[in-house]
Amino acid sequence: MDDRLLQELSAWLDFYRDMGFEGLYLPPVSERTRSSPATNSAGGSAPGPSAASDATDSNEPSGAAPALGMLPPQSAQKANAAPLLPASSRNFSLFEPAPPPPKLKETLDEIRFDLGDCHRCRLSQGRKTIVFGQGNPRAELVFVGEGPGADEDEQGLPFVGRAGQLLNRMIQAIGLRREEVYICNVVKCRPPGNRTPAPDEIETCSPFLYRQIEAIRPKLICCLGAPAVRTVLGVKEGITKIRGRFYEYAGVKALATVHPAYILRNPREEKILREDFEKIREFLRAAR
Ligand code: URA
Repeated sequence: MDDRLLQELSAWLDFYRDMGFEGLYLPPVSERTRSSPATNSAGGSAPGPSAASDATDSNEPSGAAPALGMLPPQSAQKANAAPLLPASSRNFSLFEPAPPPPKLKETLDEIRFDLGDCHRCRLSQGRKTIVFGQGNPRAELVFVGEGPGADEDEQGLPFVGRAGQLLNRMIQAIGLRREEVYICNVVKCRPPGNRTPAPDEIETCSPFLYRQIEAIRPKLICCLGAPAVRTVLGVKEGITKIRGRFYEYAGVKALATVHPAYILRNPREEKILREDFEKIREFLRAAR
């Protein structure tokens, strides 16, 4: 066997070992010649891999040992049982590349790592801390606010100031705990003087928000205030007009409501937020 072939075979054996196989089973010569249709014109055995796949494709009665089988982990073996071939190995030979592994979903940690010590827009110049998001990475409910304020910038956590306390009360009022949900913002750095984030800042930062939503895939997104509604849902109508309505973002239901800071400025409107949070409760109850 030449070196290249040996290297290839060794790589395949490593591959099967990594999959949990613990050994090779080589049936006696008599059985091998009987069960393997893969013989060359000189009557000798064809190269191993096609022998393995051909044996399972042959018209042999079921239970016939393949010419060359990989032994599954001992826990899966029965005494004297014919060696099993994993389903995934039946249709490709040892000398063809295995299909690529399925792409895994991004995690929040990976997205945070990618964000890094971000200087992608001018908001980085005035911020103390990046406020990425906080909460349950498998939350059923994600809240999206506008951007960090002074308290959030100080602590590196979203909604920890007065608006955050109101949000916490609303979350509790519908029977949830803050730790159960996930809370984040359209932009991750505090806009100077708490101004509304500019369109180019939102454009730069929002891909991280979209990736967070995709990583969590909640049952419901709650957009708090106009910038969140515009960014996530693309809806430009006034928030007081469309609040309480359900939309959809990438196959996930999304509710538009007012920002808690609006209620702090207009305390008589608190019933609006209560009403919309009742819709959240109802939606999640029906979705369970
Ligand atoms: N307002 C927001 O929009 N987000 C916060 O994190 C805090 C206040």
